[in-house]
Amino acid sequence: MRVDKIQTSDRPVVEGWLFPFILEHIGWWSSHYRLNWNRVEMEQHIRANNLVERSCDDLFKADQNETELVRVLRDDEKPVGIVHAAIKASEFTRLKSGRLNWIWIDEDQRGKDLGSKLIKVAHDWLRDKDVAGVDLFVNRANESALSFYRKNRYQISDYQMILSHQHL
Ligand SMILES: CC(C)(COP(=O)(O)OP(=O)(O)OC[C@H]1O[C@@H](n2cnc3c(N)ncnc32)[C@H](O)[C@@H]1OP(=O)(O)O)[C@@H](O)C(=O)NCCC(=O)NCCS
Repeated sequence: MRVDKIQTSDRPVVEGWLFPFILEHIGWWSSHYRLNWNRVEMEQHIRANNLVERSCDDLFKADQNETELVRVLRDDEKPVGIVHAAIKASEFTRLKSGRLNWIWIDEDQRGKDLGSKLIKVAHDWLRDKDVAGVDLFVNRANESALSFYRKNRYQISDYQMILSHQHL
């Protein structure tokens, strides 16, 4: 296994990861907003808004940016995971801090410590950038990710709370 930069040839694989990732998140959010979108509607929404292509474009743009890190974990040449981190200035504390934007391990490769290996790549990069810490957003329904982040010593800070339209 090795870790290196994202390549144009990774695009089909990465888009194949983005689709279920976006679909799952839209499912959670639409449920929290009590929208009751079904799977077909969500898939249509993703396609109609080119969400996968746009997210993938964003990753390639981020890779050109000195304040962002995009790294792909490979088994030989085959991509098996990706991480995207960035540096930001915290609005109130003015501290330079890190943000973990996305981490994904191919479904067939999960539970083999690869996610922990990849998050360490982001942590090492952020430590070199001298950030005060790193934060991220994770949906409360994403139990495996919550467990993964806890295992990697993240602690819960803020909660995002939602009131659906019917209760306004
Ligand atoms: C979260 C993710 C990156 C973890 O990668 P991974 O390679 O499977 O993780 P590791 O093998 O390094 O760590 C395993 C730990 O993750 C957690 N975990 C992974 N899969 C889990 C599952 N199905 N159920 C519960 N916990 C799980 C556990 O804490 C586990 O530790 P344990 O084996 O001691 O119980 C991977 O599951 C993934 O890609 N998920 C989909 C994308 C996602 O949700 N990303 C995070 C939100 S941005």
